[in-house]
Amino acid sequence: MPLLQIDALQYRWASGRAALDGCSLQIPRPGLWMLVGGNGSGKSTLLRLLAGLLTPSGGTVTATCPMALVFQNPDHQLLLPSCGSDLQLWLPPGLDATTSRARVAQALDQVGLAGLEDRPIHTLSGGQKQRLAIAGALASGSSLLLLDEPTALLDPTSQEDILGLLRHLTQRPQEPLAALWVTHRLEELDHCDGAAVMAAGRAGPWQPGPGLRRQLERSSGALPAGGPKR
Ligand SMILES: Nc1ncnc2c1ncn2[C@@H]1O[C@H](COP(=O)(O)OP(=O)(O)OP(=O)(O)O)[C@@H](O)[C@H]1O
Ligand SMILES: [Mg+2]
Repeated sequence: MPLLQIDALQYRWASGRAALDGCSLQIPRPGLWMLVGGNGSGKSTLLRLLAGLLTPSGGTVTATCPMALVFQNPDHQLLLPSCGSDLQLWLPPGLDATTSRARVAQALDQVGLAGLEDRPIHTLSGGQKQRLAIAGALASGSSLLLLDEPTALLDPTSQEDILGLLRHLTQRPQEPLAALWVTHRLEELDHCDGAAVMAAGRAGPWQPGPGLRRQLERSSGALPAGGPKR
């Protein structure tokens, strides 16, 4: 069974314009899976449908593991003042205090922020905030992370840092995660387990990332833009 199976997914905005037009995609196993595509090709819409923020107008999504969305801008996701209190929000309901504390500590540890429970979020760097947002997804018990351009607002060092963290989480021998990572940075494709091109509301087949990067760079990075026709 794949972790995620998307078949013929359709989504139309109220205007009648289709953002997804028979999109099919599979996440076969844990790993770092990347989606590239021109502006308006439907990448963010796909992630928002998977996260349940939008309701598809057709097609099916079958997931065998819980999923969580990580926003491009962690400030849109982090709500409470301290790292620990924010992560508490993500925990499944009904945990006792000791278990909750342990889950929060474990989530912080997994993203390299061990011991920062009491740190005010506003004192974190952009890269640390993005790590904390990823810790939230882990605290919720999700094993498939949906990341919409998670490095777009970061400086080059933090970009590498977050990519390295996701590489680690998706390759670790114990409980490796799956991640669906949307990017416009072609160099990131070198580090994925498979890459697919999104165009006109549909996803293409998985391809080796480095080869797709070379192919797209030869065409000057030009990606097919735009959504599908009405
Ligand atoms: N809230 C909205 N209302 C109406 N149309 C929208 C809305 N959000 C996005 N769209 C349209 O849906 C289509 C797909 O947009 P989407 O944001 O999914 O593209 P994307 O691939 O994520 O693009 P980008 O690379 O620029 O982030 C586009 O035509 C876009 O204009
Ligand atoms: Mg987008």
